[in-house]
Amino acid sequence: MTFLAIKVPKSKADEIRKRAESIGAKDRDRLITTEGDYVIIPILEGFEDKFKDFELIEQENPIFIREKSIYEVLKNKIPSDLQNYIPRSYKILGDIILVKISNEVSSYSKEIGEALLRIHPKCRSVWRDLGKEGALRRPTLEFLAGDPRATETTKLENGCYFKFDVKKVMFSPGNQYEKMRVAGMIEEGEVVVDMFAGVGYFSIPIAKHSRARKIYAIEINPESYHYLLENMRLNEVTNIIPILGDSKFVTPEGVADRVLMGHINCHEFIEVAIRALKNEGFIHYHEAVPLAVKDRPVRRLKDAASQLSKEIKILNLRKVKNYSPGVVHVVVDAYVY
Ligand SMILES: C[S@@+](CC[C@H](N)C(=O)[O-])C[C@H]1O[C@@H](n2cnc3c(N)ncnc32)[C@H](O)[C@@H]1O
Repeated sequence: MTFLAIKVPKSKADEIRKRAESIGAKDRDRLITTEGDYVIIPILEGFEDKFKDFELIEQENPIFIREKSIYEVLKNKIPSDLQNYIPRSYKILGDIILVKISNEVSSYSKEIGEALLRIHPKCRSVWRDLGKEGALRRPTLEFLAGDPRATETTKLENGCYFKFDVKKVMFSPGNQYEKMRVAGMIEEGEVVVDMFAGVGYFSIPIAKHSRARKIYAIEINPESYHYLLENMRLNEVTNIIPILGDSKFVTPEGVADRVLMGHINCHEFIEVAIRALKNEGFIHYHEAVPLAVKDRPVRRLKDAASQLSKEIKILNLRKVKNYSPGVVHVVVDAYVY
């Protein structure tokens, strides 16, 4: 796709813009920009002849007024039999874009990255999202477009700032509602233990939006921990107690009114979570569950409670999001006594 424009001296710009608009030549999707003493007026193909007195240029990085869809930008660059595989969704984390690209169009990854930058000109880099690795959920990313050094960003979500490096730590915008739901449940004066705190995904919104007395935020990955400390400072919260270490060993016992288990594979930690509670309290337990074993999270909670001779009441089970085909990420709210 070519993006034509005419280069007009500033003194003539207003007159020529009006003329271009009156004959329907101005491309309304692109912004008028300036270049030294000139104004760049985007025009549509077919109207070149109407502006012979001015220099005709092809814009390399036009700025779009109205967001075009990725499909529109790519339709002339990807063969029609593959266009069904053009990604329809992607994540914008602050000013960085992560996109999953199916193998069918992986040879067009660069074009997809460039198209996304064109649609979102304020973003600094685009990365192919190849999934997350291991217990630390470290992202695997491939650089596609923009500035490869642009990996650190700050995302504003629910009134909280989250600073992090997209190459070092994960961030799930899909869990946004869950973070506020939990923050909204907390009663004044509660003590909370967040066993998998990351960069503060749950701890920061709780500190900002609830009247919790204290939040123990435990994180094993020093890189995530670094951003947890940074986010406590950015959000000016003072009631988080950060702990660097493995929550299996460093979770305090008998202190909490509520324990958050925000890791999708943490069933081996349920007994530790129960021990963190005062005599009784709430647990919010996350798990990635294949639909074939839907009852598994509730069974695991009940088994762990009975191991410790405790009673457990299941209050709620909700889907956080689809995790992969046939697997859902759920959270179970339970009361242990
Ligand atoms: C899946 S992330 C948290 C995601 C978050 N709940 C969200 O909504 O985006 C899990 C975090 O737990 C940390 N983690 C994994 N195993 C841990 C352990 N044994 N002790 C403490 N933190 C751990 C990881 O490093 C990661 O930062």
